[in-house]
Amino acid sequence: MIKFPGSNKFKTAVFISGKGSNFKSLVKFSLTRNSPISIKLVVSNNINAKGLWFAKQKKIERKIYKFENKIKNENQILNHLKKNKIKLICLAGFMIILSKNFIKKFKGKILNIHPSLLPKYKGLNTHERAIHNNEKFSGCTVHFVSSKLDSGKIVLQKRVRIYKYDTAKTLAKKVLKQEHLLYPKAINKIFANF
Ligand code: GRF
Repeated sequence: MIKFPGSNKFKTAVFISGKGSNFKSLVKFSLTRNSPISIKLVVSNNINAKGLWFAKQKKIERKIYKFENKIKNENQILNHLKKNKIKLICLAGFMIILSKNFIKKFKGKILNIHPSLLPKYKGLNTHERAIHNNEKFSGCTVHFVSSKLDSGKIVLQKRVRIYKYDTAKTLAKKVLKQEHLLYPKAINKIFANF
C-alpha cells in the first residue's frame, strides 16, 4: 500500500452529534504513520456532544452549527471545507440528514458508518429491530453517502453474532466495538487504490 506521510495525508472532517467514540477511533487511526487521512475538523450540530471535548484535547478545530436553518448552515460548512481544503467527510453518529445539494457538492467524498448489515435496517433503532426479528447476525457497514438514506455504495461490513440473551444494549456495545475497527479498515480500502 502507498504510504501517506505528513502533508500528503487527505484532509478530513468528521461530523458528530453525540458520544463520538467513532470519531475518537478515527483520530487515533489518523495519527498512525501510514494512515491516509489527517483529521483537521470536527463538525457538530450539538454543542454538548462529548466528542467535542476529545477534539479540544487533541487541538482539532471544532465547528458547531445548530441546523435551525439547514441551507444556511450547510453553505457555511461547504465554504469552510473549501477554505480548509477538506477532501473527505466521515459521518460518525451525525444525526442530521444532509441535503441533496450538499451531498452533490461533495459527491463520492462522504462516508458514513451505520450499525446494521445494510441494506437491512436502514434508519434508527437498528438493534431493537434486528433482535425483534430474531436475526442471528447483525453488524455494521461503512458506505458512501448518497441522496437516499443509508443506501450508498457499501465499502465494508462486519458481522456480529446475536445470541438469545442479547438485548439492544448488549448488541449495540458489541457492534460499536466492531465499528471502531471497521471505519479505519474501510478508509484504508478506499485509499489502497490511490
Ligand atoms: C454508532 O453506532 C454509529 O454507527 C451510529 O451512531 C453511533 C454513534 O456512536 N450512526 P459514537 O458517537 O461514534 O460513539
